[in-house]
Amino acid sequence: MLGNFSYKNATKLYFGDDSLKFLNDELPKYGKTVQLIYGGGSIKKNGIYDEVIKILKDNGKTVVEDSGVMPNPTVDKLREGVKIARENKVDFLLAVGGGSCCDYAKAVSVSVHCDDDPWEKYFIRFEEPDCKIVPVGCVLTMAGTGSEMNGGSVITNHEAKLKIGHVFGEDVMPKFSVLNPKYTMSLPKRQMVAGIYDIFNHICEQYFSGEDDNVSDYLAEALMKSVIRNSLVAVENPEDYEARSNIMWAATWALNTLISRGKSTDWMVHMLGQAVGAYTDATHGMTLAAVSLPYYRYIMPYGINKFARFATEVWGISGDSKTNEQLAGEGLAALEDWMKKLGLSLNITELGATPDMIDGITEATIILDGGYKVLTANEVKEILKESL
Ligand code: NZQ
Ligand code: ZN
Repeated sequence: MLGNFSYKNATKLYFGDDSLKFLNDELPKYGKTVQLIYGGGSIKKNGIYDEVIKILKDNGKTVVEDSGVMPNPTVDKLREGVKIARENKVDFLLAVGGGSCCDYAKAVSVSVHCDDDPWEKYFIRFEEPDCKIVPVGCVLTMAGTGSEMNGGSVITNHEAKLKIGHVFGEDVMPKFSVLNPKYTMSLPKRQMVAGIYDIFNHICEQYFSGEDDNVSDYLAEALMKSVIRNSLVAVENPEDYEARSNIMWAATWALNTLISRGKSTDWMVHMLGQAVGAYTDATHGMTLAAVSLPYYRYIMPYGINKFARFATEVWGISGDSKTNEQLAGEGLAALEDWMKKLGLSLNITELGATPDMIDGITEATIILDGGYKVLTANEVKEILKESL
């Protein structure tokens, strides 16, 4: 049974190998000074930077550069971005990069005209913005987070050893996002597969909850099947445009709020993964991969029917004369097999976590109550130990 919900998505998308030209339609809607947000330089190597700069100049924009947004953007970088925006009185924030750049742009957006410290206000007290918001646009270069069509912004505070996300409302979501699958082809394989697992896990987080018949779960199954099929093609041949385009589109739909409508959601793999990230600064998708199997094996008995359905509907495992317990186990074995084929990290040790960090990571893990089992802190600790 579907619960009560509203649904609107405020982001306009331009998809395809010729989609960047639509910046020409969007840019005139915003003011003259554009803060161009990007990361460590990949867009300079693959030529996207030059293409974007040309369009900005053609549209008469004054460009203020804000580069060096790191994977897992930090609160210190956020404060720097806010300073740049204030000093230059920017009218628009254009993020060109992966989820980190897009998340960071949203965090800058809500902080420029706000007197409070952004970390305390948005990531500790979880307040909503009550100041003027600087509009954000995104040119996406990596498929994974869904940040291009959602209000999520995840910021890391190394001093406090915390990595926390805030999901902002529609005013903060990108006004538009340009999705050109060709841009993702220069990604190193490790980043590509980390992004693919991030997509898959976003779907799992919204799938493994509830016992009811719910249209969102059928949508989730279709998305998962598409991600599995196209990931195997892309790993063999990263230049396969069909596979890369399907992966990019699936990423957007995996986390643009559609498949969470009318149902509860889990998100504990992300809470565990983020806490691991706070201690190791490891790649987001890899932190999820490294804790997933111990977590799912632990909660499986509490959601046995859904795990059995996962086996038959997503992995095509025959249910003939099998118990739900057998099926559920086979489904997770199929998941593990696929993860190994992609070359994902399957333990947190590989990501730099050590046994002496377990207490701290446990403490940094936010416990949510939407999944099949509300964990105790002790259970979090056991799952983390199992992930070492
Ligand atoms: O910095 P550059 O040089 O651009 O290099 C990046 C970075 O090193 C590189 N890259 C991106 N596109 C490339 C490329 N290299 C070559 N060619 C390209 N086309 O890839 C590296 C990773 O980029 P990043 O943006 O960090 O990756 P991702 O998109 O996975 O974003 C991760 C961040 O998003 C947050 C994560 O926690 C993490 O901080 N998330 C945001 C969410 C949201 N907004 O809803 C949800 C997610 O669960 C996630 O938590
Ligand atoms: Zn994620």
